Amino acid sequence: MSDKRRVLTGITTTGSPHLGNYVGAIRPAVAASRRADVESFYFLADYHALVKCQEPERVQRSTLEIAASWLACGLDPEQVFFYRQSDLPEIPELTWLLTCVTAKGLLNRAHAYKAATDANRESGEDPDAGITAGLYSYPVLMAADILLFNAHDVPVGRDQVQHIEMARDIAQRFNHLFGAGRELFTLPAASIEENVATLPGLDGRKMSKSYDNTIPLWLPREALRKAVLGIVTNSLEPGQPKDPDNSHLFAIHRAFASDAESAAMRQAFRDGIAWGEAKQRVFERIDLELAPMRARYEALVASPDRIEAALRAGAEKARARAQPFLSELRHAVGLRSLVGAKSPASTSGEDAGVTAEAAEFKQFREADGSFRFRIAFGGRETLVSAAYPDGKAAGAVLASVQNGEPDVLVADIAIELRVDGKVVASSAAYPGIDAAAADAERARGALAAARARKLAAQARKPAGS
Ligand code: TRP
Repeated sequence: MSDKRRVLTGITTTGSPHLGNYVGAIRPAVAASRRADVESFYFLADYHALVKCQEPERVQRSTLEIAASWLACGLDPEQVFFYRQSDLPEIPELTWLLTCVTAKGLLNRAHAYKAATDANRESGEDPDAGITAGLYSYPVLMAADILLFNAHDVPVGRDQVQHIEMARDIAQRFNHLFGAGRELFTLPAASIEENVATLPGLDGRKMSKSYDNTIPLWLPREALRKAVLGIVTNSLEPGQPKDPDNSHLFAIHRAFASDAESAAMRQAFRDGIAWGEAKQRVFERIDLELAPMRARYEALVASPDRIEAALRAGAEKARARAQPFLSELRHAVGLRSLVGAKSPASTSGEDAGVTAEAAEFKQFREADGSFRFRIAFGGRETLVSAAYPDGKAAGAVLASVQNGEPDVLVADIAIELRVDGKVVASSAAYPGIDAAAADAERARGALAAARARKLAAQARKPAGS
């Protein structure tokens, strides 16, 4: 994995994007994704959509609109990980691994669940009336989204902060249970962009679907003008000075204007600009920014096949990262190849706990005089060590591989063997990630089997020899 900071966020696919989403999420995310020192993950949280929405056409339509919006606003799928949650089977699989270490009491305390049970109690219903297990488990699914990519930062609205804290809790517990001293999961943190304004809606409250005060992002020009004319103002007449700091209209303009443009608008307010004239200027400023993107958006939604292809490619890229990690996690919890399984009573019986496919080790000398070792299993020499200046150095590393429990990881489409975090041997490239992951699993078994064989041989030696 690269050492850049990883930033990840999901967008639930239940509605159409509005200006508030653009200013508060899409625009800052697209800007952040252009930074060279971060790796960005943006995904369409359609599994989460199913918790809130049981209208299939709406989920599909919203997925299309949101994907098209992000692309139209300049997100470059080559530069980031941009995918649809339900294209990654690793997410529900990880969800289950996490579900099994998540305290039920933790989920009982989730704000959304508590609000729903409180509302039920207030109306004299059973507390869990109408509440699905999906709503209840929502935070675990979200933790899987985040932890699968070991995200450091998760930009979200305040209402989601508790979910990130839960993901942290779950990650900590998993690390403690299965990490054997290693941090399997990075602990994520919520990041709230303090300098991204929350955009007021038509009525001055925060623009939000739940207040029904939104301006849809992709209104045609004339419809956008009408919507802006509908922003609530007060009854001051033309010529009367207006207070920019108490005006939603001014705040909306601010979100689109440069500092200089904003200062000019401030002056116009003081000079008593008529509300109608001010609204016209605000509309023109918004439209100036949106018009080129609107054209791209319209072209994109008109060819859903292009968006589908972009999402498929994004899923492939994301899975190349997720699959090897998930195979590590499966191993960590005990979902493993049976080859090399530890026997509970390895003292009795010949070769107890030792299986056919034990790894074999061979040290050799290169033509240039350096030393390496090879590791073979299943009749193939699969891993080759680095070169060491002399036989003793190579032998010491080999001993650490044989006696310790080296980590077997998949890196891109090859296998790496690490001792104390240092790569000591690696394979050639495999045709694909699945083949590499499968052989990595066999390598783990074969190394464990070789260890078990060695221990069994030592146990058979007479004492003192
Ligand atoms: N629950 C988030 C919301 O409603 C969407 C989401 C799903 C998400 N998975 C995520 C956000 C992972 C950040 C990280 O806004």
